[in-house]
Amino acid sequence: MNPRINMTRRTFASVLSASALALVGCAAGSNGQSASAASASSSASAQDMPWWKKTIVYEAYPKSFQSTKGVETGDIAGVASRLDYLKELGVGAIWLTPVFVSPMADNGYDVADYYNIDPSFGTMEDMEELIAKAGEHGIKIVLDMVVNHTSNKNAWFVESSSSKNNSKADWYIWRDPAKDGGAPNNWRGIFGGSAWTYVEARGQYYLHTFLPEQPDLNWENAEVRKEVANVFNFWRNKGAGGFRIDAVTYIKKPAGLPDGTAESDGLAPIHDATANTEGILDFLHELRNNTVAGTDCFMVGEANGVQASELSDWVGENGVFDMVFEFSHMDLDGHDASWIDAHGWELSALKDALSATQANTASNGWCPTFFENHDQPRCVVNFFPEGSDTDLAAKCMATVQLGLRGTPFVYQGQELGFTNVAWPSIDYYNDPSSHNQYDQAIAKGHTPEEALAGVHRFSRDNARTPMQWDTSSNAGFTTAPTTWLPVHNDYETQNAAVESERDDSVLGYFRRMAELRERSDVLLAGNYEEVAHDHEQIYAFVRELNSKKMLVMANFSTEEASLGDLAGTMSDATKVLIDTYGSGPAPTSALRPLEARICEL
Ligand code: NOJ
Repeated sequence: MNPRINMTRRTFASVLSASALALVGCAAGSNGQSASAASASSSASAQDMPWWKKTIVYEAYPKSFQSTKGVETGDIAGVASRLDYLKELGVGAIWLTPVFVSPMADNGYDVADYYNIDPSFGTMEDMEELIAKAGEHGIKIVLDMVVNHTSNKNAWFVESSSSKNNSKADWYIWRDPAKDGGAPNNWRGIFGGSAWTYVEARGQYYLHTFLPEQPDLNWENAEVRKEVANVFNFWRNKGAGGFRIDAVTYIKKPAGLPDGTAESDGLAPIHDATANTEGILDFLHELRNNTVAGTDCFMVGEANGVQASELSDWVGENGVFDMVFEFSHMDLDGHDASWIDAHGWELSALKDALSATQANTASNGWCPTFFENHDQPRCVVNFFPEGSDTDLAAKCMATVQLGLRGTPFVYQGQELGFTNVAWPSIDYYNDPSSHNQYDQAIAKGHTPEEALAGVHRFSRDNARTPMQWDTSSNAGFTTAPTTWLPVHNDYETQNAAVESERDDSVLGYFRRMAELRERSDVLLAGNYEEVAHDHEQIYAFVRELNSKKMLVMANFSTEEASLGDLAGTMSDATKVLIDTYGSGPAPTSALRPLEARICEL
């Protein structure tokens, strides 16, 4: 899934000598957009930009954010109780993972009723109060719309599965059994096993991209599309400021649902068969026109399977979303397909992926910047060498993320430097994909220890442990004696209260970095040019607006990194605006291990 892009670059030094401080980098992205097009596109100032381009979006996983009821899980009122904390972080929007009525087969990504709040999270009044209170803080609420599929307990599915002729008979994807009575085709669901489940009452199978408890809606049916738009408008009218659309690349299936190329278990990955099927954008244009078009409510799509080179169809002038999460930089090690088979990666691959997204949204559209979410391991493990100082790594990543062009989507705990967990057995894990990946590893002949090591490294539960607010019992997440997932054992140092007191904490740095971005037109609106591409330790890029330039440099290695050609930028006039090592004098010819720095050129 990683686009291998062909960019022409000159060295930084050659450009410096050609014209002082002229910039080079990704001169042509994979869709041929040129660097000059990128420059031409930058707004003259951040003032003209819509609110969602200038803000920071904070992803909260309400189940693990804050309990106000003294139970094992968090709730909506818990999010409302932490608005001051989020405001201080520079957050202007909170993306809540799904809080609608759900049997929780996949932690809310299986919705039984889109028009009501799950009792474990609170009530409709709690949600209305959150939207109102957040508004008073200048914060909007972004809702997570899961509309590729519903829960099998949704009344629509219950009716649809009851017979072949009911008012919802065609709302899901039903097919007769194959000649041998088996599944209609060989697709494997994303969480393992056949993507088809048989229902006696219809004598047919239904399709599910994810768990059997998550039947796929039939988007070919105009009534379904209309009802989906109704759901969006219901929440827009309640005051939602944006929508994140879950698993959106799977909503359209190829005609005839043909078999894929079978792998050793006789099944073919459904992702390869259905992601980004031709014609999908027609559905999405219709959805946009019937919901957020003409409003300041934004839509961000989870677009697994969309390549950077395809972004112009998805965002910008002719696109359907304001931004999409494009995942090429998140799967550099190939773990998307199999955790146990994940491999190493080079810094150049990360640079290629990030620069491709930047190039393809430079003159048309916008992108989110993200290195974590509720489905990914913690970034301090994912992007840095084993044994890295995780506080330094977290600050380094914050510099890159908030230094890049785009809207930062920060995942809860990232601002505190949270790291992965490593529980002693698979039984501790709640996440269905962890169980599936563990079973797959065992089926491939790996030992339980090896299979568990894969889970430690990639489990989605790494990101789902309770928030750590202070040093009290259960880190201040709940007054209940136990929590739904264990609290990380580093909570006495990595928590909001302790880190708030210390300027040199990850939180202290994050706040300073957020402030720098908020008051810098260059960081908000400037164009992006990658520099020093061949440097093996440092990722560096220049942001430029109206001839003002800032250089962002990050050493991704645990060794000191000589600046090489980049040192040519350091003159007496160069001002260090922020440095992850603190305020002391920064070496002019090197970056210390995991150090990141932003300089005004
Ligand atoms: C993507 C979501 O982010 C993930 O958590 C969920 O399991 C799947 N979509 C299915 O809805």
